[in-house]
Amino acid sequence: MSSNQLDKKSQSWSALFAEPMSELVKRYTSSVTFDKRLWRADIEGSLAHAEMLAHQKIISSTDYDEIVKGMRRISEEIHNNQFEWKLDLEDVHLNIEARLTQMVGDAGKRLHTGRSRNDQVATDVRLWLRDEIDEICDLLKHFQHSLVEVAEANVEVVMPGFTHLQVAQPISFAHHMLAYVEMLGRDLERFKEVRVRVNRLPLGSAALAGTSYPLDRERVARTLGMVDKEGTPCVCQNSLDAVSDRDFAIEFTSAAALCMVHISRMSEELVLWMSQNFGFIKLSDRFTTGSSIMPQKKNPDVPELARGKTGRVVGHLMGLLTLMKGQPLAYNKDNQEDKEPLFDSVDTLKDTLRIFDEMMGGQEEAKTGVKSGGIQVNAQAMEEAALKGYATATDLADYLVRKGLPFRDAHEAVAKIVRLAQNSNKGLSELNITELKAVNTSIEEDVFEVLTLKGSLNARSTLGGTSPAQIRLQIDRLKNHFRERD
Ligand code: ARG
Repeated sequence: MSSNQLDKKSQSWSALFAEPMSELVKRYTSSVTFDKRLWRADIEGSLAHAEMLAHQKIISSTDYDEIVKGMRRISEEIHNNQFEWKLDLEDVHLNIEARLTQMVGDAGKRLHTGRSRNDQVATDVRLWLRDEIDEICDLLKHFQHSLVEVAEANVEVVMPGFTHLQVAQPISFAHHMLAYVEMLGRDLERFKEVRVRVNRLPLGSAALAGTSYPLDRERVARTLGMVDKEGTPCVCQNSLDAVSDRDFAIEFTSAAALCMVHISRMSEELVLWMSQNFGFIKLSDRFTTGSSIMPQKKNPDVPELARGKTGRVVGHLMGLLTLMKGQPLAYNKDNQEDKEPLFDSVDTLKDTLRIFDEMMGGQEEAKTGVKSGGIQVNAQAMEEAALKGYATATDLADYLVRKGLPFRDAHEAVAKIVRLAQNSNKGLSELNITELKAVNTSIEEDVFEVLTLKGSLNARSTLGGTSPAQIRLQIDRLKNHFRERD
């Protein structure tokens, strides 16, 4: 049989059609250029389906053996880049099935018994996404580890904490890093929750209504590892829903977009901190670029791009939501458009997590154990910035409250003192006791302890606060948590 004949034959609907598709329509409707990356999942799903067909005696065990043999060779071909992907065969499913039939004949043609590409593609995307989620979770965990290490090395480093980007109160740089560890922790939770709903089996729904063959869907789910914690198979319970809804992809992209938003916030800070006006940090040269015209420049391209790429992933979320909103039950070809946004969201998030892990935490050389990369912290610049902004004003108010003033009066008194300091171009701790007493007589020598950055930090020892003692507790808690988790 010539390959042309085979291609025609493999299109199950072709006998009905009087004229061939135009080249443009072929290109427009095909998806193989991008969905071929689902090939592993496609073969895995097909093998599980075939095994069940044989077990149920719907196909013979000889046919099953042939299918296994053929799929093994196809996997090798694809893996070694020897597989010829054909646009004529539209998508990954038809390409693989046609090659199988070419290799093993009728056994290959029997594989599609009780199955449609509609339940096949929904299964493939779920299998593929499940593995990607696992990788993303590992990357998130590693990034969290790295940030905790950065925090541990910088517990005593004081920086200004901001609200409205105005200096607010002194905080520890470690505290700032740990805020991101929390955000990433919730991202991780979200991905794990999404995984539960991704890991359910559409196969066996056939085109939309189920099938007349005596399939054992739970057996297929078990083979594919689509089971819950107790080992109970997770099978989509309504065939119309199973083949048509892509909410699992939308949920995933939503979690991905949110995770990118967190990284984007960090990016914004890194860009600010790297500017000459802040000078808080440096990034290793390999994460920055120069300017072709201004020789003095080092630009934070990586964080800027992450901020930009966040827009892309947020866009993909909007794209997928919009893709779904007008679709009547059950499957519509619209759904073929789910793949590119989903793939790009996965790729963008994974790359971003990898690069940020290395940029922030550094990468450990396997041989030497020495780290390269990693954020370089300018503790002095941070401290000077914290001293500039009257960041201990709240501490002074709290001090006056302890001396018996109602908080609102204390607030007023401190506002006067800040004005005094501004007028004489001094920091709060540089005012002398006479100047302070002139505003409020209850101020005494012990005030200077609370006006220092260290004093301010140490005072904030409530759970979740920025005192070094509290941060050390948090670091211990996180490390214990990681030990149990990883
Ligand atoms: N390539 C298709 C997709 O991605 C596979 C399903 C095609 N089903 C169909 N009835 N045309 O959705």
